[in-house]
Amino acid sequence: MNAEGRPTVYIETYGCQMNVSDSELMYGHLEAVGYTPVGGPDGADVILVNTCAIRDHAEQRVLGRLGELKRFMGRNTVLGVTGCMAQRLGPALLERARHVQLVVGPDGYRALPALIEGARKGERATKVEFDLEEHYEDFQARRFDGVRAWIPVQRGCDYKCTYCIVPMTRGAERSRTLADVEREACTVAEQGITEITLLGQTVNSYHDGAHDFADLLRSVGRTPGIRRLRFTSPHPNDFTDRAIAAMAETPAVCEHVHLPMQSGSSRTLKRMLRRYTRETYFECVERIRAAIPGVALTTDIIVGFPGETDDEFEETLSAVREIGFDDAFTFRFSLRDGTPATRLPAHLTVPDDVAADRLDRLVSLVRDGTRARNLSMLGTRHEVLIEKTARRGGLLQGRTRHHRTVLVQGEESLMGKYFTVELTGTTGSTFTGAIASAGHALPLAG
Ligand code: 5AD
Ligand code: SF4
Repeated sequence: MNAEGRPTVYIETYGCQMNVSDSELMYGHLEAVGYTPVGGPDGADVILVNTCAIRDHAEQRVLGRLGELKRFMGRNTVLGVTGCMAQRLGPALLERARHVQLVVGPDGYRALPALIEGARKGERATKVEFDLEEHYEDFQARRFDGVRAWIPVQRGCDYKCTYCIVPMTRGAERSRTLADVEREACTVAEQGITEITLLGQTVNSYHDGAHDFADLLRSVGRTPGIRRLRFTSPHPNDFTDRAIAAMAETPAVCEHVHLPMQSGSSRTLKRMLRRYTRETYFECVERIRAAIPGVALTTDIIVGFPGETDDEFEETLSAVREIGFDDAFTFRFSLRDGTPATRLPAHLTVPDDVAADRLDRLVSLVRDGTRARNLSMLGTRHEVLIEKTARRGGLLQGRTRHHRTVLVQGEESLMGKYFTVELTGTTGSTFTGAIASAGHALPLAG
C-alpha cells in the first residue's frame, strides 16, 4: 500500500517495444481501478513480470529473475507473469514456479484486476486464450516517457517464419482502426509528446479494412504537434510503392528504416520461410534508398539457422558489406519448441561453436561498418531531440532523425526539445555532440 492506502503495482518489462507498450496499457488499466504504479518491486502489492519468449536466453533470464523476486515478496504480495513466455508456457509455469500466482498472455490483460483479486484470496490462475477482437481500445496507456510515445497499430503476426515463436505467443494479425490510432496520436500530442513510433510485428502490413500503411503514415504524420514519426518493424514484402511514397512525402517520417533481413542467403531465407530472396531484399533497399536519399538502414540478422552452410553465411557477410547497414542486431539462432524449425532434420543443426564463431565474425563486420560510417560523420550537424538523461555522468541523451544516439551536455530542462547538434566525438556506435543552436529553422512543435 502507498501512503494513501492504495495498493501498488510494479511491472518489470522484458523483450520488445510491443511489450513496453503492453506494460503501459496494463499500468493504465490497473491505475484506473485503484492501483498506484511504483518504480520497483520492493514493497509492491502486485508484481508483474512482462516477458519475452523469442530466444531461450530471454526465458532463462526471466526464470532467474522470478527466483530473485521472492525476496521482495511479503505474505500478501501477488506475483504474476504476463506476455509471450506466459502465453507459451501457460499452466506449466505455475507448476515450475510455485510462488507465481498468475500467468496471463498478451490478450488477457483486461482480466488482470479480477485475476489479481482472486490471487489475493489465494487462487492461482492461467489466462492464455487469444482474443482477435482485443485492442484494449478503452485502456488509457500510462506513459512514463514524456518525450516519445509508442503506439501499437497491430497485434499478432500472420507470417510463419520457421524460427519464430511470435505467431504462437501473440496469435493472428489484426489491425486497429485508423480512427483509433489517430485518436491516440492526438492524445499524446496534446500531452506535449512530439515523437511517435508505430508498433506492429509486421507493421507495414497494417490494414484496417479500409486503410493501409501508407494511409496510416500520412494520417498520423499530419497530427498537429507530431514532429517525428517512426515505425517498427516492417517486413520487406509489405513495402509497397504507396508505402514508400508516403514515407518520402510525409515530412514527419524519419529517415530511418529498421528492415529485418535475417539472412543474406536466398537458400537460408527459403528455409526460414521469409518469402523473399537476397535479390528482392536488395531491391526493396534500393527502392527505399531511391525515394529517401540518405536514409539510415538497420537490420536484424540470425546466424546458425539449421542448414546454414559456410557459403550461405558468407552470403550474409557479403550482404552486410554491400548494403552497408548503419547498424544491426545480431542473434544466434535459438530453437523454440513448437516452431516449424523443430521439424527440420536434426543433421541440419549448426554446431554451437560454429554458430558462435559466425556471430563473432558478423558482429565485428557490423561494428567496423558502423564505426567507419560514424567517424565520417564527425563535424556534421544534425537535428537532435533530447530524450532522457544518459546513464553516463550528467549528460543528456538524444537522437538524430536517422536514429543515431548523441550525448550532449545540458540541463534537464532541455528534455523534449530539438536542437541542432554538431557531432564532436564517437565511441564507434554512439556520439557526443555540442549544441550549436535551437532547431528554430524547423517548425516548432505544438
Ligand atoms: N532465434 C534467434 N533469433 C530470433 N529472432 C526471432 N526468433 C529468433 C530465434 N528463434 C530474432 C529475429 C527478429 C528479432 C526480433 O529476433 O532477428 O527479427
Ligand atoms: Fe516481443 Fe516477440 Fe519477445 Fe513477444 S516474443 S516480447 S513479440 S520480441
